[in-house]
Amino acid sequence: PTTETLRLCMTTQLGDYTETSQIIHTSNSSSYSSILKSSQQNPRWLNSTSKPLLILTPFNESEIRAAVLCSRKRGLQIRVRSGGHDYEGLSYLCKTPFIIIDMINFKSIDVNLADETAWVQSGATLGELYYSIGKKSDVHGFPAGICPTVGVGGHFSGGGFGTLIRKHGLAADHVIDAILIDANGKIMNRKTMGEDLFWAIRGGGGASFGIIVSWKIKLVQVPKVVTGFTVNKLISQGGSSLVNRWQYIADKFHEDLFMRVILQNVGSGSQKQVQAAFNSLFLGGIETLMPLMKQSFPELGLAAKDCIEMSWVQSAQYFAGYKKEQPLEVLLSREALYKSNFKAKSDFVINPIPEIGLRGIWERFMLEELAFMILDPYGGKMAEISEFEIPFPHRKGNLYNIQYIVKWDVNEVSEANKHMNWMNMLYGFMKPYVSNSPRGAYINYKDLQLGTNNKGTNTSYIEASSWGRKYFKNNFKRLAQVKSKVDPHNFFRNEQSIPPLPGLF
Ligand code: FDA
Repeated sequence: PTTETLRLCMTTQLGDYTETSQIIHTSNSSSYSSILKSSQQNPRWLNSTSKPLLILTPFNESEIRAAVLCSRKRGLQIRVRSGGHDYEGLSYLCKTPFIIIDMINFKSIDVNLADETAWVQSGATLGELYYSIGKKSDVHGFPAGICPTVGVGGHFSGGGFGTLIRKHGLAADHVIDAILIDANGKIMNRKTMGEDLFWAIRGGGGASFGIIVSWKIKLVQVPKVVTGFTVNKLISQGGSSLVNRWQYIADKFHEDLFMRVILQNVGSGSQKQVQAAFNSLFLGGIETLMPLMKQSFPELGLAAKDCIEMSWVQSAQYFAGYKKEQPLEVLLSREALYKSNFKAKSDFVINPIPEIGLRGIWERFMLEELAFMILDPYGGKMAEISEFEIPFPHRKGNLYNIQYIVKWDVNEVSEANKHMNWMNMLYGFMKPYVSNSPRGAYINYKDLQLGTNNKGTNTSYIEASSWGRKYFKNNFKRLAQVKSKVDPHNFFRNEQSIPPLPGLF
């Protein structure tokens, strides 16, 4: 009955039954399950019993508006899904009756080289964005994440970083306008939403404030030729001291040089070892890179033969695990190259981890099968932008970000607890070595173990601060103030949405 009343309400709002039947997928429709599963990136949730009453795949803003007004009238919650990469599945799971608005039909990208901007709809992927830029220009790029299947909707609204972070900062730093539909169904742009709300959706997580339909972004200039390289070193064969050294210098390298470290265990049984991959992008050719590396990190022993020159858009392929010779169209694939159950957490490092700490990490890696730590260097542009500029606060003073990931096979459902326990043990061990008061975390690597809102509508601001300050530090209060202004009844909510600030409610 709820599904039918919702459908009727939307039909009344839109005044056209055929239109709604094309965009509404109920559990009786043949399309329901395939759409539901289509972009779920963490198979951990595939067997969840939390299913939406219906999935909406709108084609235009009035349909989204109608869904907001009708869901609100019926007391239903909304989950908005763009690329479906949310680490905790919050774009398609909910503990109370809900519907999903899937932005799959909002994926147009309009690149305008004359003013170096682009309008990108939220349902587009990063790969589609990079492809559209690369097709039009070999000297423009955009500083967003590394995985091409990630959706623009969630990614931009949480910050978003990748290989251009040191030169240009975050994706959200380059958003210059947006179209948003609020809890009253009002459709607004930057001018009509005002600077507070526009500030909040660039890093504060869009799901707390409304549905972002599209973003206007400022492109950045890149050289025609960039260079990629990856040097693998086993921890037992000098890798440990290289990682140690990297901690002291990676945030101070020339800002054209981005060098992340991917730690992972390789081999199995008695052959198991920890490996560090120094995975880099340099904004220039090999000839300029080699003397720079000799001066900045000679210990790595980089040779010209380890390096590959390519265009910027080819580097997006390279970092995604494709070869530069493959057609650019691989960036358009919405199928992730690797998909497995995973749990991730994050940290920020202010002081280099001492060698005893590094040894502790290697020991713990030996206790897991598919363990990863990705160390993304900060510094450069990140240190120049104020921590209040947008809600993402982890700027000057951070040497690097850590993402911890543990993966397990899709069929290994019963083993989940074992892997989660390992992750918690590693995260506990890292406490003395990372930022504290608050211990920082990155909202795009969502982690419900940091704390959640109550199931009902009212979670106190103080309670939510326990996790909110980890993601947003002193920006959390301003986010709650914006929330009080634009959604005082907390319609747009989830387990880690921003609560309204009492007193302003
Ligand atoms: P999804 O659709 O699941 O949305 C995530 C959150 O945003 C949900 O709460 C959702 O409701 C909300 N949301 C989505 N669309 C919205 C809209 N239009 N309006 C309002 N709210 C909306 N990050 C990074 O910075 N750099 C990287 O390199 C990577 N790489 C990466 C690889 C892989 C394999 C994964 C799984 C994830 C990453 N990420 C990342 C993390 C990624 O940035 C993060 O998960 C984003 O929130 C994903 O956005 P999606 O739109 O894909 O997710």
